[in-house]
Amino acid sequence: MSRGHLVKEDIRTSRLLKQISKIAKSPVLEASAMPPQVYHSEDFFKLEKEQLFARDWICVGREDNTRAPGDFLTWKLGDQPIFAIRGEDSTLRAFSNVCLHRMMPLLEGTGNSKTIVCPYHAWTYGNDGSLRNAPLIEKKVQAHLKRKRLPRIRLEIWKGWIYVTLNKDAKSVASQLEKLEPVVSPYQMENYVSVVHRDYTWQTNWKLLVENFMEGYHLPVVHNKTVGRWFPSKKTKFPRQRCNSFTYQTFIKDETALYGGAHKKNKKLRGIQRHTSIMPTIFPSHMYVLAPDHLWYLTLNPINLGEVKIRFGLSLAPEVNQSLKNNSSFVSDMDDFFEKVNAEDKKIVEALFESTSSLLAAPGPLSWLEREIHDFIVYLSKRLNRRTFEGSNQ
Ligand code: FES
Ligand SMILES: [Fe+2]
Repeated sequence: MSRGHLVKEDIRTSRLLKQISKIAKSPVLEASAMPPQVYHSEDFFKLEKEQLFARDWICVGREDNTRAPGDFLTWKLGDQPIFAIRGEDSTLRAFSNVCLHRMMPLLEGTGNSKTIVCPYHAWTYGNDGSLRNAPLIEKKVQAHLKRKRLPRIRLEIWKGWIYVTLNKDAKSVASQLEKLEPVVSPYQMENYVSVVHRDYTWQTNWKLLVENFMEGYHLPVVHNKTVGRWFPSKKTKFPRQRCNSFTYQTFIKDETALYGGAHKKNKKLRGIQRHTSIMPTIFPSHMYVLAPDHLWYLTLNPINLGEVKIRFGLSLAPEVNQSLKNNSSFVSDMDDFFEKVNAEDKKIVEALFESTSSLLAAPGPLSWLEREIHDFIVYLSKRLNRRTFEGSNQ
């Protein structure tokens, strides 16, 4: 790439950052959506990988999906492949997913593996990250290799969620989510039981999906045959204060809603709370709906500018899960229902990726129901501005 091209890219990116900062500084009710180029600039995406995905805490799934020793899942933090694996001592640890020989990726997808064998020349690792065997390597070198381990990645569990980060200086997840804790704690989501989890790949920019998930404005329109039917927009509430690491909204589901009300054996929640759902977004890319009876979530792993891997899951409140003995189709019916919701969103966010690349695409004003999009823009503006980022360790 020529020097001239690089300079042009830098100018374009800094112009986009300025535009975003301007939106971030404007009052919520006067703010507009982001300029369309933020979804289509390779340089902007590179910056996001470096400053967001390689620096912030990233959710990679629910802890109860990795219960047995050897259970593992893989992910990418920016350009760094990683895996989390349950050790023989029941501790969940995360490591670089790159072999210490000639740097082949070690594990793929999710699964269970007592030992990790590199698919290239069969170097073998324990699930504590230690190198156990390097066949046909000179004896003297072998002795030195015995002490080798895969580089460890920071991993923390918060209320059943697994978070990982490459940032050694990041404050703990618990301290970053301190103000969210009292909001979600009455639901005791750490006890929710995972019943569905799977990965998809959608053809869109990851930010279009975050923005789509976090606003209820589209629900009565896009989801009028599914979740939108039970969504009284006027009962949506947002926190008064803005937080650096997350945002959320609460909404009250209609009493006729198929899902979203507390089970009769739920003694934790009272009054209106029995129909209230909380919808947090943990920046940059972890989103969930926490309802009295269930939890559904998406966490995103951008593959490239127009492609995103989505880890999707459904969990049930323990009393709902226990009551299922006589209703074996409950989970598959619920799964079908949320698959429909996902399909409705997929159609929208993939279409948006196309239309935002058009010549005449221009952003319009946000509704009060899109307040969290403004929170997201504030987050992006802070994090993508390197000087601001360097002044913060959150
Ligand atoms: S690259 Fe892993 S064993 Fe050679
Ligand atoms: Fe949606």
